[in-house]
Amino acid sequence: MYFSCMLSPRDIKQRIGNSAVQFVEDGMTIGAGTGSTAYWFIAALGSMVSKGFNCQVVPTSHQTEILLREHKIPVITLNEAPQIDITIDGADEIDPQLNLIKGGGGALLQEKMVAFSSRKRIIIADESKLVQQLGKFPLPVEVIAYGYKKVQTLLEREFGIPVNLRTKDLSPFITDHGHYILDCSFQRIEKAESLSNYLNSIPGVVDNGLFLNMTTAVLIGYNNGDLKILP
Ligand code: 5RP
Repeated sequence: MYFSCMLSPRDIKQRIGNSAVQFVEDGMTIGAGTGSTAYWFIAALGSMVSKGFNCQVVPTSHQTEILLREHKIPVITLNEAPQIDITIDGADEIDPQLNLIKGGGGALLQEKMVAFSSRKRIIIADESKLVQQLGKFPLPVEVIAYGYKKVQTLLEREFGIPVNLRTKDLSPFITDHGHYILDCSFQRIEKAESLSNYLNSIPGVVDNGLFLNMTTAVLIGYNNGDLKILP
C-alpha cells in the first residue's frame, strides 16, 4: 500500500521559509516580507545571523520590523537602504505569468515600495496560492480614510461587485500608514494592468494589491513536501 506524506500548512510554510535563505548572500541588503510564510524565512535568517551571517534588512511592515528585532537581525529603513539586493515576501494569489495579488495582511503599500526598490523579488508561497486567473482573493485597495465611502460606492457601481471595508474588532482596519482597506471581490480579473492603472488614478486611492511584472521567481511548497522554483 502507498502512503503519500502530507505536511501540515505550518510545516509547509516552515519548509519554504528555511529553503528561501538559499537566495540570500552574505553582506546583502534584504527586503523582508510580511505574513505567515515570510515569518519562517525571517526565523531562518535569524538563525543564520546568530551564527555570524552579515546582512541588513528593510521590513515591509511594522509587524515584520518587530519580528526582525526579536531575531536580532539588523534593521534599516527604506530611506537608509542604498540598494535592496533582494526582497523575499509572500503572496495571496500567483498567476502563471507570476503576477500577484498581495495585501491579505494589509501591508501592500510598504510591500510594493520595498519590492519596487529591489533588484530581485522572490515570492514564497504554498501551492494553494497558485491560480490560473487572479481575482478570487478579494483585491485589497488601500485608501485614505477621508471620503472612503465615495471610492467604495464608485467601485461597487463601476464593476458591479461587493466592495467591503476591511475591519478588525468591529472597527475599520488601519494600515501601518494610517489608511483603510477596501476588499474588492472581482472573482476574475481579466485586464490586470488597466485595472491597476484605473484604481490608482482615483483620488483617495493610495495603491492596490496587484503586483504586476515584478516577480523574479517564486518558491512554491507543495503539500507532499516538494519545493519548486518557478519559472
Ligand atoms: C501581506 C501579504 C502577505 O504576503 C500575503 O497575505 C501572504 O501571507 P501568508 O504567507 O500569511 O499567506 O501580502 O500584506
